[in-house]
Amino acid sequence: MATNLAGAAGLCVGVYSARSNAAEPQAQLPDEDGYKLWLRYMPPGNAAKSYRRIARQIRVDGTSATCGIIRDELRSATTAMLGGAVSVNENGLMDGTVIVGTPGNSPLVRDLNWTADLRAVGDEGFVIRSARIAEHPANVIASNTEIGALYGSFHFLRLMQTGRPIERIGITERPALQLRLMNHWDNPNGTIERGYAGRSLWQWNELPGKLSPRYAAYARACASIGINGAVINNVNADARMLAPESLRQAAALADVWRPYGVRMYLSANFAAPARLGRLATADPLDQSVADWWKVKADEIYGLIPDFGGFLVKANSEGQPGPKTYGRTHAEGANVLADALAPHKGNVLWRAFVYDEDVDPDRAKRAYLEFTRLDGQFRPNVAVQVKNGPVDFQPREPFHPLFGAMKHTPVIAEIQATQEYLGQAKHLVYLGTMWKEFLDSDTRAKGSGSTVAKAMAGQIYPSAITGMVCVTNPGLDTNWCGHHFSQSNWYAFGRLAWNPELSAEEIADEWTRMTFTSEDKTVAIIREMMMSSRETYVNYTMPLGLHHLIGGDHYAPMPWNNRAPRADWTATYYHRASADGIGFDRTKRGDRAVEQYFPPVCDMFDDIARCPEQYLLWFHRCAWDYRMKSGRTLWEELCAKYQQGAEQAAALQKTWQSLAGKIDTRRHREVAERLAIQVADSAKWRDQILEYFGSFSKRPISPSVR
Ligand code: GCU
Repeated sequence: MATNLAGAAGLCVGVYSARSNAAEPQAQLPDEDGYKLWLRYMPPGNAAKSYRRIARQIRVDGTSATCGIIRDELRSATTAMLGGAVSVNENGLMDGTVIVGTPGNSPLVRDLNWTADLRAVGDEGFVIRSARIAEHPANVIASNTEIGALYGSFHFLRLMQTGRPIERIGITERPALQLRLMNHWDNPNGTIERGYAGRSLWQWNELPGKLSPRYAAYARACASIGINGAVINNVNADARMLAPESLRQAAALADVWRPYGVRMYLSANFAAPARLGRLATADPLDQSVADWWKVKADEIYGLIPDFGGFLVKANSEGQPGPKTYGRTHAEGANVLADALAPHKGNVLWRAFVYDEDVDPDRAKRAYLEFTRLDGQFRPNVAVQVKNGPVDFQPREPFHPLFGAMKHTPVIAEIQATQEYLGQAKHLVYLGTMWKEFLDSDTRAKGSGSTVAKAMAGQIYPSAITGMVCVTNPGLDTNWCGHHFSQSNWYAFGRLAWNPELSAEEIADEWTRMTFTSEDKTVAIIREMMMSSRETYVNYTMPLGLHHLIGGDHYAPMPWNNRAPRADWTATYYHRASADGIGFDRTKRGDRAVEQYFPPVCDMFDDIARCPEQYLLWFHRCAWDYRMKSGRTLWEELCAKYQQGAEQAAALQKTWQSLAGKIDTRRHREVAERLAIQVADSAKWRDQILEYFGSFSKRPISPSVR
């Protein structure tokens, strides 16, 4: 561990050398509760001196609510960071003015004539450039839209928060994906499905009359990282969410979010025409059903003119859907799409389906159902696909639907609420996991056909592109339960904006904004984050093992063989017996590998070339199978579990070493959770090895304590 940290600190100097020297920590840091997230605007150390010269005055042309938000944010942030009031002046110019505007609202921006650059950044992108205006050196944040200007302003502030130069800058940013959406799994009764940070943010008993200040705080946090929409309710949708009263409540929320560029989406219950509308059926080919959806869409747009659309979980885990009426997923999606089309709304149709009739292997079912429907969806439908073929496991290979749909937009669904990754108790930074997914090469059209490219419509042109995140904020003061879980909300936003960013870069900037600007401490925390997901995999489900849990999706339960469905048990997936362990998904097994393009398919199929991190996902191996390390599979399993538990203990120790570098309250709260994590990791190791040992009949390696 010590060597790693030294390495990371060294790397910091190399990779982040553009950053100015950061401040030494103050002797006694005031306690923080985490409410401010990454928007703390702490003094940026030595950089403050040059910043003071460059950001002396703010000028935001435009009178809209969004412009007001930009003005307030820039003024309060720079004032806090620079330790003295930064003035706002709508008329004058002086050296060191930060100018924000669009060609539409600002004559200064219009006169710059950055037409070609602005055309290139689209509606949401921005240009930040140092310029001389009427002989005054200034920084200009320009965009075609005020929301783009808001994103640019947050970007500018991020540069300052992370100690980067803001002199002579030239930045052009445009989001890679159109839809960057939070997916809340919140229920009308205030509970959250798989929520670990308190109850729902949305106060249904108060809306629409009373607006909690958290609604704007939430939208501001989303906007600060480019998130442009949110589905507010559970995919296991209560049909009543579409009732007039609920829609008025949603509209009140949407009004708060609009100036931040956060659009409202709703999960729709497919049977709503029957359950809510009292029709005899919800059959998508029935005219009365189509009419019902049209009237409903008109009603919604009457209240929420920029409504984004419906998210639908259909024929999955007991939810109603078109198959209930003998219709296909395409027929189901299209009836909603037709209702939304006149208003330019979209349908996000989830591919999280696993009907037992389709194939005995749950991992194969969604691909089989959806590839045969490619080309049958309306243009305003996107199929929303989880990153892996089962269900947000600590490690899954990428879902084979990425790259496989030539005529249908496919958007990705990832999960920040750490359902299978220690919930809000374990420190697990998911930036690395999502990068592994985004960088996976589907080979759909030769080498370099990454998931990120498929999603961005760069493999097959796509009218809708996007990435959504099943997300974690709740009413807990620190929003996400675990202070470090905030980093997953943050990483989602940053990656949805730019999937090319590295997980390390994101961890670095988040740490600087959230905890400290002191380089050494940043390097230590960054390294903790970077290794945390692999640590979690090691002590829970290494080598391609998956779903070794019970109903809580938290504790080890590899013996779990009783559930309403076989594919909800653990034994269905690991198949341990006296002769070995693993799920044979090869060409000699159930042929799931064939859902991947060659040569990915052949690589997964060939036990010698299949990355060992996916070994037991694709292969069934004897306990004495020889691993690349020279150990037998059994010995390797023992070593991985032991390594994971040791890594968790090291994480705790490293954090302890940061006492005094982080404010006492947040340090203590993280430490309390790390203690749970360490105990849990030992429990995972011991229970899993004891259980699998009863099949392998081999002793647990002596190195396991
Ligand atoms: C998982 C999760 C459920 C959720 C489902 C979904 O199975 O445990 O709570 O409803 O995913 O994504 O729809």
